[in-house]
Amino acid sequence: MAAIEQYDELKRRHRAMWASGDYPRMVETFLLPLGSRLVEACGVGPGERVLDVAAGTGNAAVPAAERGAHVVATDLTPEILDAGRARTDNRLGIQWVTADAEDLPFAAESFDLVMSSIGVMFAPHHQAAADELVRVCRPGGTIGLLSWTPEGMLGALFATMRPFAPPPPPGVQSPPLWGSDEHLDTLFGDRVTFGTLHRDVLEITAFSHARDYAEHFKAYYGPTIAARANAARNGLEHEFDAALDAFCDEWNRGTEGHARFAKEFLLAVGTRR
Ligand SMILES: C[S@@+](CC[C@H](N)C(=O)[O-])C[C@H]1O[C@@H](n2cnc3c(N)ncnc32)[C@H](O)[C@@H]1O
Repeated sequence: MAAIEQYDELKRRHRAMWASGDYPRMVETFLLPLGSRLVEACGVGPGERVLDVAAGTGNAAVPAAERGAHVVATDLTPEILDAGRARTDNRLGIQWVTADAEDLPFAAESFDLVMSSIGVMFAPHHQAAADELVRVCRPGGTIGLLSWTPEGMLGALFATMRPFAPPPPPGVQSPPLWGSDEHLDTLFGDRVTFGTLHRDVLEITAFSHARDYAEHFKAYYGPTIAARANAARNGLEHEFDAALDAFCDEWNRGTEGHARFAKEFLLAVGTRR
């Protein structure tokens, strides 16, 4: 297949993966605190021009707009943006735009703040995406990123699923790398000075039993659905389920009937040179 066709096919598969399951439901179940956390760390104020990249249902875009910012929310997956539009009932004046983080349809230096909550980390070509964040942010503007870490629970989930998932195409990097200081340094160099590089955890107490969380991943999380489908094609569905159960048991910090997980993330807020 020619390179362009391969690239388009990768994007099509990514979009279909994120449209599968029910990502908006996962946000409502336990991910909502992350968006406000990022917006607070970025100090979003009234009148600011804000771009939320890989915005999903507007987890960060909505609290930014509630603070009076002019917000554009972009995402690769129109189905998820539609859920965001419906969730906000089109209030707050958010513009919802389908766009690839690696090729943003905006002029250079057109935003005061460019942010992404566990979003841009899932674009397959990290350098291309980072370059776009820098390009559309004005000099002196802010870049704010909240990303799962490689050592934390989401990093471990990807490591658990990796043997079952299709091999990544050449040049595609693993999402949790964005949660490492060194990787951000490689991607942004001296173009962004990160004044905040802070690790924290999202506490998840929405599930009674550890394995309820495994069922939640299997039913609603696109990357898990895709890895499990590939496992099934290779006759490894039961092995996949056993590995996911063991993973959830291992990361459970709660008591019987009250599962509790702590998912580590890196909060990075910097100034664009
Ligand atoms: C884990 S969700 C995060 C959504 C939202 N920011 C939040 O905090 O809930 C990841 C999002 O990245 C989007 N995405 C994946 N690859 C992308 C790309 N290349 N360009 C833009 N969005 C992308 C997916 O469609 C999905 O909505």
